[in-house]
Amino acid sequence: MSKIDRLFIQEVAVRDGFQIEPRFIPTEDKIRLVNTLSRTGLAKIEVTSFTSPKAIPALADAEVVMSEIERVPGVVYAALVPNARGCERALACGVDEINVFMSASASHNLANLRMTPEQSLAQFRAIVAQVGDSATLNASLSTAFGCPFEGAVPQERVLQRVGEFADMGMQGVSLCDTTGMANPAQVAQLCEAVMARWPELTITVHFHDTRGMGLANALAAWQTGIRHFDASLGGLGGCPYAPGASGNVCTEDLVHMFQAMGCETGVDLDALLAAAATLPGLVGHELPGQVLKAGPATRLHPMPR
Ligand code: COA
Ligand code: ZN
Repeated sequence: MSKIDRLFIQEVAVRDGFQIEPRFIPTEDKIRLVNTLSRTGLAKIEVTSFTSPKAIPALADAEVVMSEIERVPGVVYAALVPNARGCERALACGVDEINVFMSASASHNLANLRMTPEQSLAQFRAIVAQVGDSATLNASLSTAFGCPFEGAVPQERVLQRVGEFADMGMQGVSLCDTTGMANPAQVAQLCEAVMARWPELTITVHFHDTRGMGLANALAAWQTGIRHFDASLGGLGGCPYAPGASGNVCTEDLVHMFQAMGCETGVDLDALLAAAATLPGLVGHELPGQVLKAGPATRLHPMPR
């Protein structure tokens, strides 16, 4: 397997996952989980978001979590940021990567961020100037494959936004399927179009498994050459401002699939499964992840006598 074929698995459970949990996850448990995840070989961890604590009370402890985690060399510690105010807070905690976000559809942008797309873009421009060389910059485009309020989102609009992000100087762009509306054919088409036009951008795909298409979409993206995947331990996740939102594609299931195909993920699956096993105790409910329940495909059972 050549180095270029290495996958980058980016964990979002502590942000996308915990933001929608009705039970507040104690700060020390968040810190402990990030520290555990840091030692599993994940390329990036989205640690928290510097959003308004009124909008996302579950992550109101962003400063403490970001400042008190252990930073393992080689792991990128990112935070989600909605506006210049959030960026200031994130930079004060020394994040490695600022992940700004807006939606491809105006209605979800308004519901989630209380801004028009133009207002979000203006915030992004201010953030690019604010960040300078202090951190890397990634822009996440929510509802890139469909919007729960508007339905289909035209591909031209997605491409227009990606172009605007590239022109601003973003190093990476995440194509996000906020409520699991994407299908593999659509994913392949969009990923190919984006990579052909902006080969210099690092493109991440961020899938939710709301309709059971998460792994199929990840595979379709991989087949086009995408190597950066967001995923969430146990399959936690969801946007509180998108009706019907549910969990991200599950990290251990994604890693298990790619490893079974012979891809280099850099991740220790057993360590990841051990971390996933602690999640139900933290959140107080079962999780959708399947490999934790069934065991890896290599696990053999005694034959019945
Ligand atoms: N961090 C902390 N506080 C913030 C903030 C930030 N990044 N941005 C704004 N605020 C505060 C303001 O200071 C103000 O506080 P006050 O009421 O005590 O005066 C309050 O939030 C409202 O500020 P305003 O600029 O009017 O924001 P808003 O109410 O229009 O909300 C966002 C805009 C972007 C701050 C808010 O919608 C948000 O945080 N959304 C995040 C949604 C999200 O994370 N969704 C899940 C991820 S997909
Ligand atoms: Zn998400």
